[in-house]
Amino acid sequence: MTACPPSATPAAGCGGQPSPWIARFAPLVAAEGPVLDVACGGGRHLRHFLRLGHPVTGIDRATEGVADLAGRDGVTVVTADLEDGSPWPLPADARFAAVVVTNYLHRPLFPRLLEALAPGGVLLYETFALGNERYGRPSRPDFLLRPGELLDRVQGRLTVVAYEHGLIDIPHPAVIQRIAAVDPRRDSLPLI
Ligand SMILES: C[S@@+](CC[C@H](N)C(=O)[O-])C[C@H]1O[C@@H](n2cnc3c(N)ncnc32)[C@H](O)[C@@H]1O
Repeated sequence: MTACPPSATPAAGCGGQPSPWIARFAPLVAAEGPVLDVACGGGRHLRHFLRLGHPVTGIDRATEGVADLAGRDGVTVVTADLEDGSPWPLPADARFAAVVVTNYLHRPLFPRLLEALAPGGVLLYETFALGNERYGRPSRPDFLLRPGELLDRVQGRLTVVAYEHGLIDIPHPAVIQRIAAVDPRRDSLPLI
């Protein structure tokens, strides 16, 4: 399974298994380093990184799906609309060992996502791409990555560990793009 359906509610559709892409590259993240999940939905990646021993922060405009996590040690849940022009909802100097985004795209956030990475931090991003409109929603170009867009977004800033763009058929046909990229200020090369 890679992408949860775009129509899924945070509580229901996106609270399941972690994306295989995120699970595959989670070991790149510094042990016990804090992880930020932007548009965390039902918190499947918050839960995954918590199990791996990371403190986690999740932001979403609808946080009912992670209500069970709020207040737990190592969990910060922030309810905020990331698109309404409000200031970034975290302290300006907050830095994370990983920033995770899945099945969500709001292009003006890209500079903020890169800035939120600590030295050596990991960006794990996976969402729908152009061509997905043939298979369903999202179908608006605003919500679909252009070919190579994630590469362009990190160029000159991060080292690309892995990148894919193409059609998946599980859990349903969809065109997705995904990247794992690391801030080069690391003591060691990523173990892949
Ligand atoms: C398809 S779900 C993906 C959830 C999660 N990332 C996952 O893959 O399991 C999209 C998420 O984006 C959140 N979202 C959409 N627009 C948002 C906004 N303007 N500000 C904050 N969150 C938003 C939704 O509430 C929803 O939880």
